Amino acid sequence: MYYDSERGARGDGDAGLPWNPFKALVAPRPIGWISSLTPAGVVNLAPFSFFQAVADRPDVVMFSTEVVQPAGDVGGLKDSHANAAATGEFVCNLVSYDLREAMNATSLELARDESEAEHAGLELVPSRRVAPPRVAGVPAALECVVVDALPVPHRGGTHRFHLVFGEVVGVYIDDRFVRDGRVDTAAMRLVGRLGYDEYSVLDRTFRMARPGS
Ligand SMILES: Cc1cc2nc3c(=O)[nH]c(=O)nc-3n(C[C@H](O)[C@H](O)[C@H](O)COP(=O)(O)O)c2cc1C
Repeated sequence: MYYDSERGARGDGDAGLPWNPFKALVAPRPIGWISSLTPAGVVNLAPFSFFQAVADRPDVVMFSTEVVQPAGDVGGLKDSHANAAATGEFVCNLVSYDLREAMNATSLELARDESEAEHAGLELVPSRRVAPPRVAGVPAALECVVVDALPVPHRGGTHRFHLVFGEVVGVYIDDRFVRDGRVDTAAMRLVGRLGYDEYSVLDRTFRMARPGS
């Protein structure tokens, strides 16, 4: 079969499938569970699966936020983006399988002065190098300083996204997941996002040496 992505995006005829397969194919995507602070100090927490590591030394991550309509008080930016841009900091909490429901609960769109963390009954723990706290019980959290934010370019269409780039300045890791100086990623049981309402859990790994190393 062949899916016509351009037709699907325009929504003006049969694209080949009833739902866009894109997110089911570029999968699993890690989830950046982003905590940030409003300028007034309210903690904001929301998951983003358009999230990735994009460079190392220095380590850089990015998350991509949809511009919302109607625009509201921060020009259509989601709170995580507006806060990161205003304060210059965010924390990327990693989501383990046991936190999946809590993560999902924080995707609720609340007013800017209401905290999703509080709404989901989550405890927060101070970070070391940045002001936004991390979520208690996460296997790891990346403390980030914003280095840039820019619109995602494309050739026209209804959706608009912005990328927010953060340089990682410090990493919290639960000691239970560190063995012999290495992180046991599989033991963290990290949740990944697929398409539709599907998720994955990373609980198996294998090792392979790079040629010549
Ligand atoms: C697993 C998951 C992944 C999500 N990924 C994204 C994403 O990549 N970009 C986005 O704009 N919204 C994403 N959302 C929706 C946001 O979490 C939601 O709009 C949230 O309310 C934004 O919060 P904020 O306005 O406090 O930043 C996702 C939701 C879930 C449950």
